[in-house]
Amino acid sequence: MSLLIPLLIVAHVVPAVFWVGSTAVLARMGPAGTSLQLRGPQTGASAVAIVFGLILWFLMHSGEPGKAEYVLGAGGLCALLAFAVQQGVAWRSLRAGRSNGAGRFAAAQRLSAVLLVLALISMVIFRYV
Ligand code: HEM
Repeated sequence: MSLLIPLLIVAHVVPAVFWVGSTAVLARMGPAGTSLQLRGPQTGASAVAIVFGLILWFLMHSGEPGKAEYVLGAGGLCALLAFAVQQGVAWRSLRAGRSNGAGRFAAAQRLSAVLLVLALISMVIFRYV
């Protein structure tokens, strides 16, 4: 059996799990969670998960789409949206001088957490639809 695909899946899933987990922690803790210094690790893990997810998509699902690809694609879109919300709203809202930055940070991490749970569900079930 070729090792390439299992290795790519590991390179995708391990950072993705950290991404979901760290988002859940920040959604729960809000701005108090910034003391955990998760910005770099969360951004890095999300970028690696996305890059390997896209590689897997092009290697294994880029042909004629079936039900599985629609489910997987919906999950991928949820994850991309979560990335945009985290990078474009959550972390930015903590810049000094932003009014209600703390509230925005917590709300954006909560929205991202919901989107990432939807992404995780889609990735886990797509083979069985
Ligand atoms: C833009 C973001 C993402 C893209 C493009 C993407 C893409 C993919 C693709 C194409 C596969 C299928 C590989 C195969 O056919 O075996 C996959 C599997 C998987 N993805 Fe993602 N993914 C993304 C985000 C996530 C996130 C946020 C999670 C959350 C933990 C996740 C968890 C998983 C898991 C657990 C599998 C393995 C499913 C299995 O083998 O049964 N992915 N992903």
